Amino acid sequence: MYFSFHHFAIFMCLFLLGSTSATLDTISANQTIKDGYTIVSDGNMYELGFFSPGKSTNRYLGIWYKKISYGTIVWVANRETPITDRSAMLKLSRNGNLQILSGNTTEIWSSNSTVSVQSNNPVVVVQLLDTGNLVVWDRSNRKQSIIWQSFDYPGNTMLPGMKFGRNLITGREWFLTPWTSEDDPSPGLYYHWLDPTGYPQIFVRQGPVLLWRFGPWNGQKFQGSPMGNPNPLYVLEFVHNEEETYYKYELKTSAVQRILVMPDDTTVQLHWIDQIQDWAMYGIAAVKDSCGHYGLCGPYGSCSINRYPPCKCLVGFRPQVQDEWDKANGLSGCERKHALDCGSGDGFKKISGVIFPDTRRSSWNHSMTLEECETACRMNCSCTAYANSDVSGSGCLLWFDELIDITESDEKQDLYIKLAASELAGTCTF
Ligand SMILES: *[C@@H]1O[C@H](CO)[C@@H](O)[C@H](O)[C@H]1NC(C)=O
Ligand SMILES: *[C@@H]1O[C@H](CO)[C@@H](O)[C@H](O)[C@H]1NC(C)=O
Ligand SMILES: *[C@@H]1O[C@H](CO)[C@@H](O)[C@H](O)[C@H]1NC(C)=O
Ligand SMILES: *[C@@H]1O[C@H](CO)[C@@H](O)[C@H](O)[C@H]1NC(C)=O
Ligand SMILES: *[C@@H]1O[C@H](CO)[C@@H](O)[C@H](O)[C@H]1NC(C)=O
Repeated sequence: MYFSFHHFAIFMCLFLLGSTSATLDTISANQTIKDGYTIVSDGNMYELGFFSPGKSTNRYLGIWYKKISYGTIVWVANRETPITDRSAMLKLSRNGNLQILSGNTTEIWSSNSTVSVQSNNPVVVVQLLDTGNLVVWDRSNRKQSIIWQSFDYPGNTMLPGMKFGRNLITGREWFLTPWTSEDDPSPGLYYHWLDPTGYPQIFVRQGPVLLWRFGPWNGQKFQGSPMGNPNPLYVLEFVHNEEETYYKYELKTSAVQRILVMPDDTTVQLHWIDQIQDWAMYGIAAVKDSCGHYGLCGPYGSCSINRYPPCKCLVGFRPQVQDEWDKANGLSGCERKHALDCGSGDGFKKISGVIFPDTRRSSWNHSMTLEECETACRMNCSCTAYANSDVSGSGCLLWFDELIDITESDEKQDLYIKLAASELAGTCTF
């Protein structure tokens, strides 16, 4: 047996039923998993128990791979509250609260979950699924319901099926944070989240400093991200409605994959290869290059890693502070050479091969055509640019502020920026 019970009677019962080789994936109310014991998911893919990371002797409750890559941790419960001895146990209370206790009594961590409808005899169980999700089920009614799941609390690893984004009703965020170090799973300084402001994008910050940005979603992928559809291995799904905004990926094959944020914030996609019994790394996010830094070239500046200095002003704009630009510092950005007259004189210039600027001050309409989009931008003085929201050539995105964080890249969508007529005279016939 792989775990211990409080109730000897239950233990005997299961034992006598003859589950000799089968390990259990579930514990019920009042049962515990003590340090040294584990439960294993149905398909043998994942195991849950207490472990010590790296060189640490602290104990944490975690989930790790069992069938492959034995011991590779994918989730940790008490990231910030380690247990210093071997007295820890996981306990499911009768009303559905999952607790880690040390020394039999002290609560170290709690899921804070309870059965939704109070009944005198609630039936709750906690089960480790073969997806890596630890679920507390309420089985009081005929239809069982989830009252808590570890997938709602991602750590440094995004597994297939996990959501990354935000529940717009409850405000709950599904975000990623790396471990502090290999020996310490407490959240490091980096924070990866999906910002639903304007048109959703993925951001990373270090402490309070915005580091970089992926996005926006273009119907197939987040611009600037190596992961996207169509793909033989996985389907990337982006959901954006009144209730929630998130993305997740589901595998199409039996491949084993995870996305990992490492302590130095390097974000990798790992793929298990049986023949070599090791992980192969893919799609290492190019966050270390200078253009990865948010807003490096300021408003109306554009960044290219194939150029030094990397910044230049968009056509129709000039450096705001020439002195700084002369010293290869483009942070202050660019200003218009000719002011807009906010009337019929203004026009648009097409810019190709860029990651769209920050869309937090933007609005969108998925059913508008590009022509309607242009008209909408032309009719609003604060509109600075427009584009198709979808890479397939549909939908409308409108920007209402300075255009910031533009990176030159091989993206397939065109951006149309508003310029004064005098800037466009060369390409227009009057
Ligand atoms: C759990 O323990 C409480 C308190 O001892 C008891 O009332 C309850 O019946 C137990 N529940 C189960 C499912 O064993
Ligand atoms: C934990 O507490 C229970 C109930 O008080 C007791 O029966 C059990 O022996 C204790 N276990 C340990 C390891 O102290
Ligand atoms: C449970 O609630 C406590 C107190 O509000 C909080 O500190 C803790 O982080 C919560 N646990 C989880 C898993 O959210
Ligand atoms: C989106 O654009 C269509 C076509 O112009 C219009 O009928 C619809 O009302 C717009 N939707 C919103 C939410 O503005
Ligand atoms: C222009 O668009 C902004 C942002 O959507 C809006 O707040 C403002 O009212 C619009 N102005 C006009 C004149 O429609």
